[in-house]
Amino acid sequence: MLTTAKVEEIRARIKCWRSQGESVAFVPTMGNLHQGHITLVKEAKQRADHVVVSIFVNPLQFGQNEDLDGYPRTLEADQAKLVDAGCEMLFVPTPEIIYPKGLEQQTFVEVPGISNQLCGATRPGHFRGVATVVCKLFNIVQPDMALFGRKDYQQLQVIRTMVEDLSLPVEVIGVDTVREATGLAMSSRNGYLTADEKAKAPALKQALDALAQHISAGGNVDNAISECKASLTAAGLTPDYIEVREASTLAPVTDADHALVVLAAAYLGKARLIDNLPFNR
Ligand code: PAJ
Repeated sequence: MLTTAKVEEIRARIKCWRSQGESVAFVPTMGNLHQGHITLVKEAKQRADHVVVSIFVNPLQFGQNEDLDGYPRTLEADQAKLVDAGCEMLFVPTPEIIYPKGLEQQTFVEVPGISNQLCGATRPGHFRGVATVVCKLFNIVQPDMALFGRKDYQQLQVIRTMVEDLSLPVEVIGVDTVREATGLAMSSRNGYLTADEKAKAPALKQALDALAQHISAGGNVDNAISECKASLTAAGLTPDYIEVREASTLAPVTDADHALVVLAAAYLGKARLIDNLPFNR
C-alpha cells in the first residue's frame, strides 16, 4: 500500500489506473480506524478495481472547544488494518497541504438547509467544514464512487445534496452502521468512554429501538420522543437532541411521510455519542 501526503503522487497513480479503464472507490476518514471504517473499505473493494482511503483530521470541521488536538491519531495501526482490508493507496495530507492559505481560504462549500439543524445546530460550521474537505478530497482523488457510513446520517445527506447540487461526478454509497455486540455504534470517540460509561452507552440504541417501535405501531411522535429522552436520562446520558425526520430530506415529519429516521445525540462523560435508526410506519 502506498502511503503518501503528496497530491501529485495520488493523481499520477489514479491517472494510470484510469488510462487502463479501471474504476476507483474512495473512503475518506479521520483515522483511528475501527470495524465501521474497515467495512466501508471492504465494501469499496467489492465495488471497484481500486480502493483509495484518506486519513485527515480536518481542522475546519472542529469547533473551538472541540477535540481537534485530542482526536486519536494511530497511523501505524491504521495502515496495518488497511493493508489487510485491501486498500492500495492511503492519502495522509497535512493541514498545510489541504489548506495552504490557512483555514481562512476564500472558498467554502455550504449546504445550508440540511446543515443548520440537528448536529449542525450544536456544532455551527461543522458541516461546512465537512462539505468543503470532502469536495476538496473528491477533486484530488477524482473517484468514481465514494463510500460513507449511515452512522453519520446527516453527514451522508449533506454530501449527497452537495454532489447533486454541484453535479459532482461521484456516486455516493451509504453503508449500514456497524455496531458492537451491545448495539453501541462503533466510533473513534467511544475511546473517550470509561468502562462504567461504556456499560451505559448501549442505552442510546435501545432508546431509539423503542421509539421506532412505538411510532411504527401508530404511536404519537412527540410522546415517543419524550419517553426516549426520559429513558436516556434515567440511564445516565444527557440528551442533546432526539428528532424524528423524513428519511431523505431530514424535513420535519408530516402525516404523509412513511420513511422516517430518528436521529439522536447524547453526552456521556467526555463523549458526545450520535446514533440514528431509519424505520417505516
Ligand atoms: P470518520 O468519523 O473517521 O468516519 C469516516 C467514515 O466512516 C464516515 O463515512 C463514517 O460515517 C464512517 N463510519 C464511522 N463509524 C461507522 C460505523 N460504526 N459504521 C459504519 N460507518 C461508520 O466522518 C468523518 O470521519 C469525517 O467527517 C470525513 C467524512 C472523513 C470528513 O472529514
